[in-house]
Amino acid sequence: MNNLSIYLKEVDTIKGIQIIELDSIGSKTNGYLSFFEGENELGFNIERVYFIYGVPKDVVRGGHAHKSLKQYIWCPYGSVKLILDNGESRKSIFLDSPNKGVIIKGVIWRELFWVKEDSIICVAASDIYSDEDYLKDYSSFKKYILKGRKYE
Ligand code: TYD
Repeated sequence: MNNLSIYLKEVDTIKGIQIIELDSIGSKTNGYLSFFEGENELGFNIERVYFIYGVPKDVVRGGHAHKSLKQYIWCPYGSVKLILDNGESRKSIFLDSPNKGVIIKGVIWRELFWVKEDSIICVAASDIYSDEDYLKDYSSFKKYILKGRKYE
């Protein structure tokens, strides 16, 4: 995929989604540091960061898509299964390592399943919060995608 920095490696992709691994700087003795920069690594400027915590095991969150928001989602602690659906195919990704994450640039339906209690999810987003940017049910997500394709 184009524009990816030398500090991250794309490990998988489906339309609208890039699964990446950030470089880990350090050693087993002292621990590791990973980083990302907005435009350089993610391909968008970061306007907002939010995080989800204190979630019991087996809880499912998300259940929406965004019309234009771009996001980088990662799990700095624990294990969360991310289910991503671009309207054509569905993919499950285990976010179980702090340097692994997903860049979402397309209109993607997402669900987050808490595999381990107290796992933390962090999101770096391209814009401030806007309720209007949400597609909150699956049928409006599908309709939105189909309408978009018609005008492509
Ligand atoms: P939501 O995006 O629905 O989270 P999840 O899909 O994980 O359940 O957000 C939950 C609530 O938090 C909702 O009332 C909107 C609010 N919220 C903000 O006010 N600002 C934000 O940046 C986000 C992400 C959510």
